Amino acid sequence: MLEFYYKMRITVLTGAGISAESGIPTFRGEDGLWEGFKAEELATPEAFERDPIKVWEWYCWRREVIGKVKPNEAHKILANWQGKYDLWIITQNVDGLHQKAGSKKVVELHGNIWRLRCSKCGRVWEDREACRKIPPRCSCGGLARPDVVWFGEALPEWALRKSYELAGASDIFIAVGTSGIVQPAANLPSIAKSFGAKIYVINPEPTIHSEIADIFIQDKASTGLRRLDEALQDKRPS
Ligand code: OAD
Repeated sequence: MLEFYYKMRITVLTGAGISAESGIPTFRGEDGLWEGFKAEELATPEAFERDPIKVWEWYCWRREVIGKVKPNEAHKILANWQGKYDLWIITQNVDGLHQKAGSKKVVELHGNIWRLRCSKCGRVWEDREACRKIPPRCSCGGLARPDVVWFGEALPEWALRKSYELAGASDIFIAVGTSGIVQPAANLPSIAKSFGAKIYVINPEPTIHSEIADIFIQDKASTGLRRLDEALQDKRPS
């Protein structure tokens, strides 16, 4: 007799809120990273061309904050889901905390703060010590920039294609800790819904995604995911 064990296909879209309990400020709202900053002065190709040191100073400050923190319970629950479900994480975060928690199948939609990209030859590499001397340079002599997506820039092609593919092929699509303001990531839950996925949203406050959610868990990422983890256990074949 043919026996098979179907693993639920779960895709989780994460935003800055999932790292908030690790101590990394979110972008929007009170004490948000964009509060008191003009994004166009820090996170655009034009800003980097105008003043690479100013842009690097901001990224070095963020590296310092991110470098000190650890993955929290929410990152760990998702890492733990790898064996249980057919799981992919699509993250808008550049902090690398999902991978640090042990997650392997992670799509980084907005890049990674620990990587650099040469603005002359395009080489990409990881360098945790890049802030020792700013602005850092590539071996070709070109100016290196953080390998993150800035306003007005296209998302990495593979990451975007994979995200659409996942949104179209999920049994469950979960959005955790994202305001749903920045496109194209913000569109993924409605794409997933149109392809038949059940939509869960975990956020302490309502978002654009909670409006289309089948289940809105109004909670922090850690406790919200813990509750969902328990609820999903009951649905697994024993
Ligand atoms: P935002 O700062 O826009 O939204 C963070 C969300 O997390 C909000 O909805 C908060 O309510 C929620 N939140 C706060 N604390 C939380 C907690 N403990 N648990 C769960 N949720 C919590 O961040 P993103 O949606 O990630 O892009 O922002 C998207 C993009 O905008 C970022 O990737 C960045 C930014 O510009 C680039 O830099 C390209």
